[in-house]
Amino acid sequence: MENKVICIANGKGGEGKTTCGVNLATTLRLLGFDVVYYDADEQGNGSDWIDRALSRDEDSPIWPNTAAPGGVKIKNEIQTLQRAYDFVIVDTPGTLIGESLSLINQAIAVSDLVLIPLKPTLMDIATTQNFCHVVQNIQNLFDGKPPAYLWINQVHNRAGTRTERALIADAESEDAMMGYSVLKSRSFYCEAMANMFGSGACVHDCDDMDYVRRHKAKQTKDFFNLAKELAEILGVELEATAAELVAEA
Ligand SMILES: Nc1ncnc2c1ncn2[C@@H]1O[C@H](COP(=O)(O)OP(=O)(O)OP(=O)(O)O)[C@@H](O)[C@H]1O
Ligand SMILES: [Mg+2]
Repeated sequence: MENKVICIANGKGGEGKTTCGVNLATTLRLLGFDVVYYDADEQGNGSDWIDRALSRDEDSPIWPNTAAPGGVKIKNEIQTLQRAYDFVIVDTPGTLIGESLSLINQAIAVSDLVLIPLKPTLMDIATTQNFCHVVQNIQNLFDGKPPAYLWINQVHNRAGTRTERALIADAESEDAMMGYSVLKSRSFYCEAMANMFGSGACVHDCDDMDYVRRHKAKQTKDFFNLAKELAEILGVELEATAAELVAEA
């Protein structure tokens, strides 16, 4: 396969970029790929999260390597990593202020796919619509590439409340978000997800009892489905099905 770069971006903060990036990276590792998580956000949440996980078990087979930018010119660094890894997952800043916009632009320009996490609330959708313009400006420079997709995060009760379902339907309507499709896979709100950063765990290895009993099977399946959907879009073959891996996990 050709190595792939997935850029996770939304100029609005707190949509779930880092949560998605870390869990997608570990999911791709479980699927047998060589993955590096590139932290282009100077907050460093994602690299701290992975460092914490690896300090507990440095041989953990599911955690990716991390790389943080050495300077402001991140384009070349991402391309160098792409030569070495099956997947580079690029996490970007949740603001368009200062150097952040340039970092986001560079990351998108060298990516094969842009994943835009989105919480289904009116305010998040309105601000994310503005961010879709940023993505489209870059696509206009590169023949419409890379393709961009929205990924819904923090839906309540997995199926979503009535308001959330209505908002998601609006976001899915043809021209709502620059025509970007909303992925079928999504992630739902659960308290344990918010605590995984602190314990250095991910959806696949979190051992919180309440999480294991009530949420793990669904949350891991949702991330396998996300990996599967992205792999299909990118033309990458998976060797195991989500069902096989969930059974194993
Ligand atoms: N599915 C979820 N369930 C519960 N909490 C979640 C979920 N996804 C994200 N969170 C929490 O929401 C907050 C924002 O998530 P995260 O840090 O991943 O967003 P971000 O887009 O990377 O933010 P920033 O723009 O600041 O980098 C965090 O406290 C995180 O733990
Ligand atoms: Mg983040």
